[in-house]
Amino acid sequence: MNVVLFGPPGAGKGTQAKELTKKYSIPHISTGDILRANVRDGTELGMKAKEYMDRGELVPDAVLIGLIKNRLNEPDCKAGYLLDGYPRTIPQADALDTILKEIGKPLDVVVNIEVSDDELVKRLSGRRTCPKCGESYHVMFNPPQKQGICDVCGSQLYQRDDDREEVIRQRLAVYNQKTKPLIDYYVKAGILVNIDGSAGVDEVFRQVSGVMDNYK
Ligand code: AP5
Ligand code: ZN
Repeated sequence: MNVVLFGPPGAGKGTQAKELTKKYSIPHISTGDILRANVRDGTELGMKAKEYMDRGELVPDAVLIGLIKNRLNEPDCKAGYLLDGYPRTIPQADALDTILKEIGKPLDVVVNIEVSDDELVKRLSGRRTCPKCGESYHVMFNPPQKQGICDVCGSQLYQRDDDREEVIRQRLAVYNQKTKPLIDYYVKAGILVNIDGSAGVDEVFRQVSGVMDNYK
């Protein structure tokens, strides 16, 4: 099953992907997680990406296209893939089409999780993230069992640098300008399905699974 999980920052892509990857046994490929791991490890890519990420800007297309091409060529993607956070621009989507033709794994569906801007700001400003395993929580909507501690691995949770209010606004503006046009792009390709992402985590999971079950 070859899927893009699409939606604005804070729509719940990462939260859903964590469960979907278990249910469907396909790798979760989050470009945001890959970039943050590089920032944490102090790699050249990470140092370059951090200046864009901290400002809420997109990392340049050439960097992301190279990264996703390498990742999709890894053996675990033979079973399919769940892309989260890629593509985010028309050139990234065009490059993805080319890569997927080369590896013979065209997209089955793009699941677009729709959430209002006010709700996105609430979700992002209350998010707490695990630096070790990447699990994300929310101080009100999805709190960990022990305050400030990851349920999965016991690490101390932190607030992402780009989850400060002014950076959140910038990320939403960048989404509207550069990423939202991809909705039309995939409508034209006939593979976009919209999901109401305003419901609770379990209800959104039920809806997304309902779509993905069609491609098992
Ligand atoms: P990335 O990490 O991809 O960030 P994003 O798209 O902004 O998405 P988020 O991770 O912020 O949100 P999400 O939809 O996963 O929501 P989550 O599940 O955590 O990218 C970060 C940066 O990296 C970019 O700004 C850019 O600089 C760079 N980058 C990455 N990919 C790139 C690319 N392709 N090109 C160029 N640059 C790139 O949920 C959010 C919160 O809400 C959590 O607290 C969660 O607990 C809560 N929540 C989730 N679902 C629900 C629900 N149903 N009800 C209530 N609360 C909920
Ligand atoms: Zn953890």
